[in-house]
Amino acid sequence: MTDTILSVENLNVSFQTNNGLVRAVRGVNFDIKKGETLAIVGESGSGKSVTAKSIMHLLPKKTTQIEDGTILYEGENLINYSRKEMETIQGKEISMIFQDPMTSLNPTMKIGKQVMEGLRKHQAISKKEALEKTQEILEMVGIPNAKERMNAYPHEFSGGMRQRVVIAIALACNPKLLIADEPTTALDVTIQAQILDLMKELQKKTGTSILIITHDLGVVVNMADRVAVMYAGEIVETGTLRELFYEAKHPYTWGLLESMPKMHQDRSVPLVPISGSPPDVSNLHEGCPFAARCPYVMKVCHHHNPERTYVTDSHAASCWLLDERAPRVKHSIGGGTTNEAKTR
Ligand SMILES: Nc1ncnc2c1ncn2[C@@H]1O[C@H](COP(=O)(O)OP(=O)(O)O)[C@@H](O)[C@H]1O
Ligand SMILES: [Mg+2]
Repeated sequence: MTDTILSVENLNVSFQTNNGLVRAVRGVNFDIKKGETLAIVGESGSGKSVTAKSIMHLLPKKTTQIEDGTILYEGENLINYSRKEMETIQGKEISMIFQDPMTSLNPTMKIGKQVMEGLRKHQAISKKEALEKTQEILEMVGIPNAKERMNAYPHEFSGGMRQRVVIAIALACNPKLLIADEPTTALDVTIQAQILDLMKELQKKTGTSILIITHDLGVVVNMADRVAVMYAGEIVETGTLRELFYEAKHPYTWGLLESMPKMHQDRSVPLVPISGSPPDVSNLHEGCPFAARCPYVMKVCHHHNPERTYVTDSHAASCWLLDERAPRVKHSIGGGTTNEAKTR
């Protein structure tokens, strides 16, 4: 018996495009334990959605090349699963929700019917049972007057209510893993918090594992047990929530943390964004992909991509500063905590 539900090893995904090969995901490794929440965080274009979609086989077959890697779900490698085999996984074992609830809902079908279809696709239950279960699920995700609202169409719901419906559909068959790709990005802040709370509450009830993808560190703090930081298609740092926020080792993570608005921050203090922009993943140079933006860049960084170095069993980063020959760097993050990239 293992307590790991999903284990992604050395995933490499590229796209064939008119501008050449886009190397969207390179050597990605992570795993998710039963009942835990892993957050993948990074700037737009860092390969978060491609990672999630490759798990679910949602990438365009024609142009996608999965060059290497394994995606072990409950010990089974999903990489070479046929469409038919994936259908036994999608929705029932693993569910996915996206940023825009409208893309997951059918605008011409009543809400109740959409939830019911999800239920009946995977479970041999009667129409009457499905109807009762639908109402139950809609109530569970906080749709008021669920019985009447089942007859409404998606456009009659607010954005937040629509995302609740999408979560209801995603959780209808008790999946063991929920992949949520920027699930609250399109919602305003108050509704965002409500949806995140809902996901946590449902996770507590069902024990579902969650992979949440976000560019927002606020969402990470709210949800994650562990965090993986992605940059230009690679995971550059991974650790527990605590390790990432208080003991970060990668200069990119430091930059992300510095750009995060502080809770009690004086609004007149400007945010510190990471200057520059991520490299073009269709034209990568040798060396560390963050070298061009890194305030601590060394000569070696331009020539060799650093290997993953473990700081603790749960905490690793890919940075030359962790090499024992590197100079010691002190960095203050999180409002005064002193961080040492290198500890002896
Ligand atoms: N179907 C596709 N064809 C070509 N390039 C793609 C495709 N999907 C994503 N990409 C590229 O892959 C990179 C990673 O994208 P994505 O995973 O969507 O980033 P994000 O971290 O914002 O979710 C980007 O450079 C994006 O343009
Ligand atoms: Mg994305």
